[in-house]
Amino acid sequence: MPPTSFPSAVPDGARPPLAAVTADLGLLYGGDYNPEQWAPSVWREDARLMRAAGVNLVTVGVWSWARIEPEPGVRDFAWLDEVLDLLHAHGIAVDLATPTASPPPWLGVEHPETLPVDRDGVRLVAGSRNQFAPSSRRYRAAALAIARDLAARYATHPAVRMWHVGNEYGQVDHGPEAEREFRCWLRERYGTIDGLNEAWGTAFWSQRYRSFDDVVPPRRMPYLVNPTQSLDFRRFTSDELLACYREQHAALREAGVTTPVTTNFMGFFPLADYWSWADAVDVVADDQYPDHADPRSPADAALVQDLMRGLGGGAPWLLLEQAVGATSWREHNLPKSPERMRLDSLQAVARGADGVCFFQWRASAAGAERFHSAMLPHAGADTAAHRGVQRLGGDLARLRPVLGTRVPARTALLFDWESWWAAQEPGRITERLHTLDQVRAYYRPLWDRGVAVDVVRPGAPLGAYDLVVVPQAYLLPDDAARELRAAAERGACLVVGPMTGVADRNAHVLPGRFPVALADVLGVSGEEWVALPDGGVPLAGAVGVAHVHGELLRADDATVVARFAEGHLAGAPAITRRDHGAGAAWYVGAVVDEATLEGVLDDALALADVAAAVPGAAGLADVEAVQRGDLVFLLNRGGQGVRVALPGAWTDLLTGRDVADVVDLPPNDAAVLCPAGPTQETGDHEVH
Ligand code: GLA
Repeated sequence: MPPTSFPSAVPDGARPPLAAVTADLGLLYGGDYNPEQWAPSVWREDARLMRAAGVNLVTVGVWSWARIEPEPGVRDFAWLDEVLDLLHAHGIAVDLATPTASPPPWLGVEHPETLPVDRDGVRLVAGSRNQFAPSSRRYRAAALAIARDLAARYATHPAVRMWHVGNEYGQVDHGPEAEREFRCWLRERYGTIDGLNEAWGTAFWSQRYRSFDDVVPPRRMPYLVNPTQSLDFRRFTSDELLACYREQHAALREAGVTTPVTTNFMGFFPLADYWSWADAVDVVADDQYPDHADPRSPADAALVQDLMRGLGGGAPWLLLEQAVGATSWREHNLPKSPERMRLDSLQAVARGADGVCFFQWRASAAGAERFHSAMLPHAGADTAAHRGVQRLGGDLARLRPVLGTRVPARTALLFDWESWWAAQEPGRITERLHTLDQVRAYYRPLWDRGVAVDVVRPGAPLGAYDLVVVPQAYLLPDDAARELRAAAERGACLVVGPMTGVADRNAHVLPGRFPVALADVLGVSGEEWVALPDGGVPLAGAVGVAHVHGELLRADDATVVARFAEGHLAGAPAITRRDHGAGAAWYVGAVVDEATLEGVLDDALALADVAAAVPGAAGLADVEAVQRGDLVFLLNRGGQGVRVALPGAWTDLLTGRDVADVVDLPPNDAAVLCPAGPTQETGDHEVH
């Protein structure tokens, strides 16, 4: 199958879509492949078994720098030529990685400045991975050189259909070169040292700087770090990593790469602001390792998947890594069944993925991840895990009609990295309030009810949404406040959680009754944030409890839905509602129990007239139902069969069976329903 052709150069800013790869390959299926760990005879067995399992894409080269460049400046590509040719001969495409996440040990030995320094001033050493300092000029030059040479050699190799830069960018460096670049970044941001002093509030604790040359990264300090310094260092770190990514991406393009270029995100990862990264990748790709022993992990995984869709503006994304079974880095490493692996994979597809891959194809015999599960376990192909892999390959091949389709949603959930970072800085009201916990708490009832949700960044246009949920926007930029106001004014429903709109972009607390920018929209204003005692405070007007965090509020122009019943806040409003035409804005001024939050969200859903995406599945506890394009995904994680009402005539793409009005789902099984019609393209595929 010839690769889809692209113009010989990709114009600046153009982003080859995932469709460039999926148009002929179908849904992508495979995993990381690390042939440098194996002999050529094993490669041949791998290629054969991959094909038999329906694998059509493998990520090669992530950890191969030391093999490609055994000595400084030397290049050994012969083995990689052989691997790529072999894979191509078996019809397996390659997502070729620049191997820059793990430089060879010699780089650190010859150039110690390429190694990162932690906040205690300790320079890390080789022997693991990720041992590079993103700001090191020497590292950057060496990484660019190998990326360029790789691209020059393989840009037009017919197996190579995607490129993968580095791996899971997330390194933090506090060394001298990071210091230099941090100062440049600050100069760029603030122009003058007075600007920095103002933004950082350095009048506090005598921190005033006389020059940018006096500023250092937040290394170990005697006591709490200036929170804006810390926030800026996080922003800088994300930007610096992004610069590493961008320069390799550009080098690949210059060398003639015309296919999509990406790197692997890590969901709600704290060290990179993926809203700022999203425009730099041609395709959003993510690594997902939900803890399958956690009963809420399907909801939490769905949230991450909705985030990935949001990062790509709704375009299909790629699940680039997940585990077939156990990971090797979790304390409670419970087994994961092939059925669960299949359901988790189909969940990603339901929520916008046009491909499902794993770490990794063949289990490593040696090294730190020797006990991480794989598509081909140590015990070989005659295993339940591998049969599960083969089965999934067959499933995905039947799902071609899903390609390129989008997930319609009328509910938006706001999430922002900068706000998360600022809200988590020490020295806050209570260390027990966590933005991510709040985001998950607000998302879960929506997931339980089968409501489709888009995760959006603050400031994104909200015109398409009838319900907007803001679990915690500690920093609420002006454009985000404007969008929320406009949404309320046109009659959309808003549900806003506590500690929102607290600070400006410099993390300075805003003067006035909070949330300053939204108090009039919400009809409520507050004057004190209060840490609640362990055990919580009962709420009057609801049967629930507030815990962790409450607020001293005054209902200026809102109805009080629930009040604090005891303690410091006794009698004060805890939850309020202000009607706006056909809609309403709720403010939840506390962390509240699940049932109370569900009550608020149910009222908002009812008023906004937002229902489950698949009404016939609503209320079925173990069933996740998602609409994607005109397809309906039904996933039954329960141990019992269930019947789902689905009016109309449908074909289950997984089984080829026609159904009408009801779908019988066996336990731990799934259906992907396509409106029945004469010209269904099922992309049927034979698994050998
Ligand atoms: C990450 C990395 C992989 C591997 C897996 C499993 O996703 O990208 O190289 O280490 O985790 O732990």
